[in-house]
Amino acid sequence: MKKKIVFLTGAGMSVESGFKTFRGNDGLWENYPVEQVASHEGWEADPTLVTNFYNMLRRKLWQAEPNEGHRLIAALERDYDVSVLTQNVDNLHEKAGSTHVIHLHGELTKVCSSIDPYDERYIQQLTPEHSDVEPGTKAGDGSLLRPFIVFFGESVPMLEPAAREAMKADIFVIIGTSLNVYPAAGLVQYAPQGCPVYLIDPDPVFNAPNGKFTHIQKGASEGMKELCEKLGFKK
Ligand code: APR
Repeated sequence: MKKKIVFLTGAGMSVESGFKTFRGNDGLWENYPVEQVASHEGWEADPTLVTNFYNMLRRKLWQAEPNEGHRLIAALERDYDVSVLTQNVDNLHEKAGSTHVIHLHGELTKVCSSIDPYDERYIQQLTPEHSDVEPGTKAGDGSLLRPFIVFFGESVPMLEPAAREAMKADIFVIIGTSLNVYPAAGLVQYAPQGCPVYLIDPDPVFNAPNGKFTHIQKGASEGMKELCEKLGFKK
């Protein structure tokens, strides 16, 4: 049976693909205050601004390419049972070929009902050809169509399936997250005792996980290359 590697990824994973992190930019996400574009209050206050913000981000996403870090995670599926638990709303893990990805904070390529974001009937998958949402567009239930994004203060329904994956880890790898935002940041605590934990981040991480871990102090691509060497994995 293949060993299981669980990855927990954050904004730093996609930096080398042209996206910015959340913290370290004066609280701005792609030049907007995070509370304005990623909170329930922000959505209620100005749904047009929020809709246009995600339209802009989505257009950027279609142009973006996965980096070597994303590609190595996908390549590991040859020899390992790989699960990716990501806080990112981009689809770069999937684009690189990863087949088991859990999005904790939603998906940029989807829109949904603003009454019940998880009502499957009203979740729409957007494509590069049909990417922009005209502000004011309604979902099938008559509510405003909203981005399929977990806004600050909302529950994280994918936490449970993610925790179930973490519990089965033989190896746990954290990449590019400041581990500031709960409950996602707590997922490593579900890994079995004694499970080796690696942290890939070019900077010191102040909210480092409890217990023993190996910090590979590099960016996602170089860090993944080093991890693969440590695992004896050749692409
Ligand atoms: N490779 C890997 N990590 C990097 C790179 C890189 N090239 N560049 C920066 N980093 C690291 C930073 O040092 C930092 O530790 O990525 C981390 C990014 O942290 P945050 O900006 O806090 O992003 P993240 O932890 O994903 O944020 C969590 O907060 O705003 C919410 O919902 C949003 O999912 C997001 C959540």
